[in-house]
Amino acid sequence: MSSGWLSAPLPERGGQLSEIDTSVPHIARVYDYWLGGKDNFAPDRAVAEAAMREDPNVVEGVRGNRAFLARAVRHLVGQAGVRQFLDIGTGIPAANNTHEVAQDVARECRVVYVDNDPIVLAHARALLTSEPEGATAYLDADLRNVAEIVRAAAGTLDFTEPVAVMLIGILHCITDEDDPAGIIRQLMGAVPPGSYLAISHPANDINSPGVGRLASRLNELMPMRLRFRSRAEVAPFFDGLELVEPGLVRGPEWRPDSDADLGNPAAVWAGVARKS
Ligand SMILES: C[S@@+](CC[C@H](N)C(=O)[O-])C[C@H]1O[C@@H](n2cnc3c(N)ncnc32)[C@H](O)[C@@H]1O
Repeated sequence: MSSGWLSAPLPERGGQLSEIDTSVPHIARVYDYWLGGKDNFAPDRAVAEAAMREDPNVVEGVRGNRAFLARAVRHLVGQAGVRQFLDIGTGIPAANNTHEVAQDVARECRVVYVDNDPIVLAHARALLTSEPEGATAYLDADLRNVAEIVRAAAGTLDFTEPVAVMLIGILHCITDEDDPAGIIRQLMGAVPPGSYLAISHPANDINSPGVGRLASRLNELMPMRLRFRSRAEVAPFFDGLELVEPGLVRGPEWRPDSDADLGNPAAVWAGVARKS
């Protein structure tokens, strides 16, 4: 099977964009600005710039987060032998999307992308460029609706075979009231032994007080509530799973490929764990 849509026919870009409220800043577009992308609007840029004044490391840090994503995917395909990915909180397509990194190692990898932001949906065509031996699909859905995600993803992924669940830079968009640990338990309950969970999560206990000011500023300027967490708050997200070496560490310290990787200032907690 080649790439396809799980949820809906590909919308006309113009029609989709007309549903996007560009007057309200959104984390996907703020993040796109930090990554040097062009899919952002003046209110997004104003928030991104204000945040950069609070924490000058933020731009380098988001690049460090993307670098962790790529290293984790290469590890999962190359060393762990995983061939299926459920990447939730995909973001606006950027360099080194999950399927590109995975299929560079094994062309037969299958990837389902999930995001709930209409602008990501509008640009999702760039994610549907699978190698013919593999597959990619995009689902417009909310992480808080695990049952819907699993049901729709089963059109592309075989849930009797290991799946790597990627929650990269998304869990801070889930408040404590929405029970992120419960969401993760439900997701990991849907995948078989031999599956993996990869998380990166903005920290509130690294590079403080800069990062604390960054989080407060983002919450002041955006309607979406963000919850940065400490290492002690992120660690339980891996309960019942076996963390692979080096465990839950600052993103740049997770199997760095170079001194440049290691020197990145990203204030995120990152880990990869196996379900046995
Ligand atoms: C900071 S971006 C991270 C993008 C990418 N994973 C990365 O790390 O480079 C967070 C993404 O999560 C998405 N998101 C936030 N809350 C979500 C939810 N409840 N369900 C699905 N996607 C969500 C946003 O729309 C945004 O695209």
